[in-house]
Amino acid sequence: MDESHRKSAERVRSEIERGVRPPSFRDALMAVPASERDAWVDRVLGLGELPSDGPDLPSGCVPYLPCPVDALLRAVDHAPVRASDVFVDVGSGVGRAAVLVHLLTGARAVGLEIQPRFVVAARELAARLSRVSFAEGDAVDLAERLGVGSVFFLYCPFGGERVTKLLSALEPIARTKAITICCIDLPLPPCSWLVLEPSVGPDLAIHRSTLHLSDRGLPA
Ligand SMILES: C[S@@+](CC[C@H](N)C(=O)[O-])C[C@H]1O[C@@H](n2cnc3c(N)ncnc32)[C@H](O)[C@@H]1O
Repeated sequence: MDESHRKSAERVRSEIERGVRPPSFRDALMAVPASERDAWVDRVLGLGELPSDGPDLPSGCVPYLPCPVDALLRAVDHAPVRASDVFVDVGSGVGRAAVLVHLLTGARAVGLEIQPRFVVAARELAARLSRVSFAEGDAVDLAERLGVGSVFFLYCPFGGERVTKLLSALEPIARTKAITICCIDLPLPPCSWLVLEPSVGPDLAIHRSTLHLSDRGLPA
């Protein structure tokens, strides 16, 4: 990594350690060549080797793999995630995506993670950031935590019946407010109250709820 980007990573890191959300975070990230942004983010957040999964991962649930920064940037821009949103990372691993989206947008971020030691790591990562929090458990059972969200992010945390269960848990929430579901590499089953945004990209899908009169300028 270029010396100037190494230095910018250290500067941003020290700001975060002081509990400051760097106002120029996005500019600093975008100044780094796309191919080096993942390494830059890992440096900023002090993330090392990929942690291994524990025995707590039920079958049908996907092991930890961080979402590439490029895909997260596109999700944030297409959703879009605004400072007034609550971003919920369904299957948040060590908290990288939730923290990154908070730093990029100022949105409150909530991570839901089934593997307890990842939750511990995520809480350590976000210790100084007041608007980022993590809950432990099977995301489909964390109805109260889901209920705070306006933008839901799924980097293929699970498949099959759990996805259907998650949509059932989100439906009552979508009756009270407009929600957006961003999926990376995860096709959703047919769902009568969601509309798929056309032509977003091969890996990213943006689904918008239609049950509530939208505050995002879309038809209810
Ligand atoms: C592919 S990783 C995505 C991590 C994170 N969203 C990111 O993009 O950096 C999937 C994560 O979902 C978690 N997970 C799998 N099934 C889950 C469930 N039912 N409830 C909560 N978390 C789950 C896994 O432990 C893993 O950390």
